[in-house]
Amino acid sequence: MDIAFINSKHVYGIPEHADTFALKDTGSGDPYRLYNLDVFEYELNNPMALYASIPFMISHSQHGSAGVFWHNAAETWVDVKHLPTTDVVSSITGFFSGGSRGSDPAQQVSTHWMSEAGIIDLFVMAGPQPMDVFRQYAIITGTTNLPPLFSLAYHQCRWNYNDQDDVLTVDQNFDKHDIPMDVMWLDIEHTDGKRYFTWDEHKFPDPVAMTNQLASKGRKLVTIVDPHIKRDPNYFFYKENRDLDHYIKTKDGQEFDGWCWPGSSSYLDMTNPSARKHYMETFSLDRYKGSTLDTFTWNDMNEPSVFNGPEVTMQKDCLHPGLGVEHREIHNANGMLFHASTYEGLLMRSNYQLRPFVLTRAAYAGSQRSTAIWTGDNTAEWGHLKISVPMILSLSVSGMTHVGADIGGFFGNPDGALLARWYQTAAYTPFMRTHSHLDTKRREPWLFDRHTLSVIRRAIRDRYRLLPLWYTLFWENERTGAPPMRPLWSEFPKDETTFGLEYEFMVGSRLLVAPVLDSDATTVSVYFPEGLWYDTHDNSVYQGPDTQTVPAPPEKIPVYQRGGSIVARKERVRRSSALMRDDPYTLIVALGTDGTAQGTLYIDDEHTMDYRKGKYLYILLSYSGSQLVGKVLEPSVPDSRYVTKSWLERVVIVGLNDQPSKITMVTKGGGQVSLEGSFSKGSGRTSSRLIIRKPDINIAQEFTISLH
Ligand code: NOJ
Repeated sequence: MDIAFINSKHVYGIPEHADTFALKDTGSGDPYRLYNLDVFEYELNNPMALYASIPFMISHSQHGSAGVFWHNAAETWVDVKHLPTTDVVSSITGFFSGGSRGSDPAQQVSTHWMSEAGIIDLFVMAGPQPMDVFRQYAIITGTTNLPPLFSLAYHQCRWNYNDQDDVLTVDQNFDKHDIPMDVMWLDIEHTDGKRYFTWDEHKFPDPVAMTNQLASKGRKLVTIVDPHIKRDPNYFFYKENRDLDHYIKTKDGQEFDGWCWPGSSSYLDMTNPSARKHYMETFSLDRYKGSTLDTFTWNDMNEPSVFNGPEVTMQKDCLHPGLGVEHREIHNANGMLFHASTYEGLLMRSNYQLRPFVLTRAAYAGSQRSTAIWTGDNTAEWGHLKISVPMILSLSVSGMTHVGADIGGFFGNPDGALLARWYQTAAYTPFMRTHSHLDTKRREPWLFDRHTLSVIRRAIRDRYRLLPLWYTLFWENERTGAPPMRPLWSEFPKDETTFGLEYEFMVGSRLLVAPVLDSDATTVSVYFPEGLWYDTHDNSVYQGPDTQTVPAPPEKIPVYQRGGSIVARKERVRRSSALMRDDPYTLIVALGTDGTAQGTLYIDDEHTMDYRKGKYLYILLSYSGSQLVGKVLEPSVPDSRYVTKSWLERVVIVGLNDQPSKITMVTKGGGQVSLEGSFSKGSGRTSSRLIIRKPDINIAQEFTISLH
């Protein structure tokens, strides 16, 4: 089918590819391919298929946005052609007969979609603005459920942490070096011979004690559970599924036998409701021995990866008896069937009380409802750091909003400079995890020189300060589909300069991030859209629209708070996010050109499902006419609200013209009090700054702070 986006020069989406964010003209080369594959050492700037396939595309221009969702999970190819206006008709009547590009700039993008098999449902989303398309796509495929807070904090992974002592030593070293960390990860070597849901008992004699030790500091454990099941009749999980006839079959009706980590393996047919139910139940604490409610799950290799199969995956003529279809029809949804069941299994084990956390490698449209995703096996090279930004943006706008790349690169050994820049960048992406291959050198932060260690420490600590913002954005994402990490054009839809930006992005509508992605670079050229932009590190201020070369010495990542926004932060960084739950907030009020600012703050217990029953707080913060007002917007019925212990510790207002002579605060039900403030005048590029200390009220209390 041909689909033309009239009056548009830019289309985005159809991840996953290691390629530009704005989709390129496929010209006479290969189309973008959507076919979930386990690719060894993937190439950059290439339309080749990777682990996930989301057949969603969004166009954007001055005229607005539109989206299409091509709902088909078979192998799919998409051609993209940028055409001048005069070629509109020919592009509709015949894609391949499209004329020459002429000298006019392209005015529409023609796309050509080809799927091998199955039913196709086509959804068209009319926008008219990017946020409308995100919402419309979310109506069809769902949104990311609010993740437990720990999963937005920092994750420490490698293939492999060798044994129980190793895990606990790494855990302690984070404390020793004053670096917060929320999650330790165990890759395939922790199992008994790659039999998932088991432990190597020599290396991990007491996994429950180990996990409880982590949990005593608010930390969690993630263990890997892959979809290939070792064909060992003495392995309980293999045997049970064989007896229940849960496996995928060859075209001749034999149990499919493929080669993967454990050797000869069978693959669960997750289209079979009985297989799903049995798998979900295996996450219960009495069946998954050694797990606790602090154990979460990583689903890898679920494309599925079959080492001796065509293109390292399963033969297309294999059969899924559950649905009675050939593998070819649902290949791209195989991974989703798996991780969605993992999510359900984790919910079930807590009797639907606690939020699950699942990470997947393979995904399809709708995967966001049950999983986070990472961009697979990248390499410790600057080019891979750089491409991680467009790759994450592409997944983000396609609904996969809890997304990140392996910090440092999976293959190879990063030097300190690359690793430090990678940490700085990842601290502003939704999923922040370091991970590396079995053959790489250990790369815990303290193994590097003091300078590198201090840069990494600062990057991670900055992430923790901003967790209230990430958490608020994820709650808003669950409700509206708006991705927490987003392209500038979704915030500045009329600003054409933003349409082609590949390496600059926004965190919500409030922060602009321009990471350093080139070796030895100590400056970055930053495009500032209209308005004021306050450097979050040194208080310098920029006025857009403008492009400026800004300093970015090794310890600094250029991040700007948008004028007109309010960001809530927690400045007292502790060992884990859970230990910061009741800590106080600091509000950073960055005034816009009209002297006003607004922001939101979402708070709940950070890990249970109670927020669905109204146990939360959604606070609106607004500054105008010299008054800062905080007010709970939701839930409207105070009785059901979440009760927080956190208080308001400090308010910082940047961009005021004059020093106030007096500051007062009025709270609902309380009287008026005077507050102390210290003011530093702005000059040149430096903005003014007023620090108001100790308003000293519970953050859920309604308040008005007035400057006189
Ligand atoms: C492939 C995954 O992409 C990688 O992250 C993991 O470490 C290995 N499988 C081993 O499980």
